[in-house]
Amino acid sequence: MAILEGKRVSSEIKLQIIEEINILKKTTGKVPGLSVVIVGENEASKAYVKSKDRMASELGIKSNVIEFDENISSDKLIQKIIELNENDEVNGILIQLPLPKKFNTWEILDNINPDKDVDCLLPINLGMIFLNRTTIFPCTPAGILKILDFYNINVSGMNAVVVGRSFIVGKPIATMLTNKNATVTICHSKTKNLADHLRRANLLISAIGRPGFISEDMVKEGSILIDIGINYINKKDDVNEYCVESQIKKFDRKGYAITGDIHKKAYKKASYYTPVPGGVGPMTVTMLMYNTLQLFKKKQNLLK
Ligand code: GUN
Repeated sequence: MAILEGKRVSSEIKLQIIEEINILKKTTGKVPGLSVVIVGENEASKAYVKSKDRMASELGIKSNVIEFDENISSDKLIQKIIELNENDEVNGILIQLPLPKKFNTWEILDNINPDKDVDCLLPINLGMIFLNRTTIFPCTPAGILKILDFYNINVSGMNAVVVGRSFIVGKPIATMLTNKNATVTICHSKTKNLADHLRRANLLISAIGRPGFISEDMVKEGSILIDIGINYINKKDDVNEYCVESQIKKFDRKGYAITGDIHKKAYKKASYYTPVPGGVGPMTVTMLMYNTLQLFKKKQNLLK
């Protein structure tokens, strides 16, 4: 049972990004630019945006966070997106989701220039994944593939089971794994006999959002477990049941801890697993920076 240390992979990719940006700055006189738009007062979203802004600055990406009050109209928000589309210094535009309920999310997102769709969630960019023609991928799926690459894990011929069918994680990662010749099953909340599917998985990817939901008896001996769940725990009993030692200590200091979807007891059956925290999580923001750099290079005709 070996740990797939996303945190370590993330650190290496960040160093590569810094190096590449330094070179590009010298050759083009420009740096990649990322604009993040956040609407309303969702505390989790604000924390994510802050970490994106901080990492961008750390890597030499010109970052710009645009905050709007929840009362802003759809028209004003769209107007801002059009302005960012026309701004040559902006290579990536990210609208932090979820938007407050009054907005029709797609009515807003559809205004992003597909060449600046750093999240890779517009229809044309998701379609490019389907066709295996793309240069960028949504950040979390991209992070998973980078981790597998880093540890020289070839998924060709594996039975991969993805639990979760969101357009930003489950569906794209299933397609990306198919493109890499895995045999993929997508499971979701209406799947019957989930455990039967999971027990056949050589590669199990879970994006459910329920602490410790995948138990030891549901996983195959020798499988690879990728856990995308980030579940907050604030009850002592739950912490002891679900969390690893470092998080139990964190709970004692801070009153909360995090854990994934895959029960810690399942780890010992795995050949490899991603921990929570320190697994896929750190890769997501890093891949946003990676995507910003790819879009910048594409604009400068430096990508094939
Ligand atoms: N909110 C949570 N995850 C994401 C993401 O990947 N992209 C955007 N835009 N918003 C999010």
